[in-house]
Amino acid sequence: MIHYENIVPWGRSYTEYVTMFGLTPYFLSKKVLGCGDGPAAFNSVGNAFGGHITSIDPIFSLTKKEIEKRIDQTFGEVINQTRLNADKFNWDMFGSVEGLGKIRMKSMLQFLSDFEQGLEEGRYIAAELPKLPFEDNSFDLALCSHFLFLYSEHLDLDFHIKAISEMLRVASEVRIFPVVDLNANRSIHLDAVMKMFPNSELVKVNYEFQKGGNQMLRIKHEDSKTQIEIRKE
Ligand SMILES: C[S@@+](CC[C@H](N)C(=O)[O-])C[C@H]1O[C@@H](n2cnc3c(N)ncnc32)[C@H](O)[C@@H]1O
Repeated sequence: MIHYENIVPWGRSYTEYVTMFGLTPYFLSKKVLGCGDGPAAFNSVGNAFGGHITSIDPIFSLTKKEIEKRIDQTFGEVINQTRLNADKFNWDMFGSVEGLGKIRMKSMLQFLSDFEQGLEEGRYIAAELPKLPFEDNSFDLALCSHFLFLYSEHLDLDFHIKAISEMLRVASEVRIFPVVDLNANRSIHLDAVMKMFPNSELVKVNYEFQKGGNQMLRIKHEDSKTQIEIRKE
């Protein structure tokens, strides 16, 4: 059983983001908001490729040194819990727990080396759901990886609805991955969320690290006219 006391700072790679959210290269021309990106490499690598990605996370109010320390404190615990629950994951992509640790650490180091410049450029903004410091309709796409639904035990339905409504206020389309919780069970909030947002659909993607966690939730703003493609496998 996987349980974390708090929501952990943990960073995925750019390639994982692109795969989880079914992004095509076309997304680099769009204004994208990553909610709860933490120490992921999505912002640093995506913007180096010419993208227009802004990330928000409460940990961006910390200094680089403080974030580094929190990553060091968390790393062992996450690796340990993953090892103890190895049967809940597919190992095709990472090979082993050690392989996973290496890829995660590489992504977090890419984030750390970009963090201070990104702060100055306004690409990393300290903020937290369910309130975003942006005007209505500021982005084409808002993404949320490994925060909503994953932490269903920590965040209640009301929080999920407020957070998603806020993401839809600032963006034409919202994509959330995964829709399972930390123990790879379908989130207890998913059905109620989908009922609340009729423009939502589950889309199968080509990423499955948690067994059965291979779907993202896509929600379009009711007035959205933009069509952002989903990569066909
Ligand atoms: C498990 S990490 C996922 C990081 C990244 N999205 C990824 O997939 O690699 C969860 C992140 O959610 C952030 N977080 C915690 N509370 C939040 C809130 N209220 N709004 C936005 N992000 C939050 C944490 O700081 C942490 O960076």
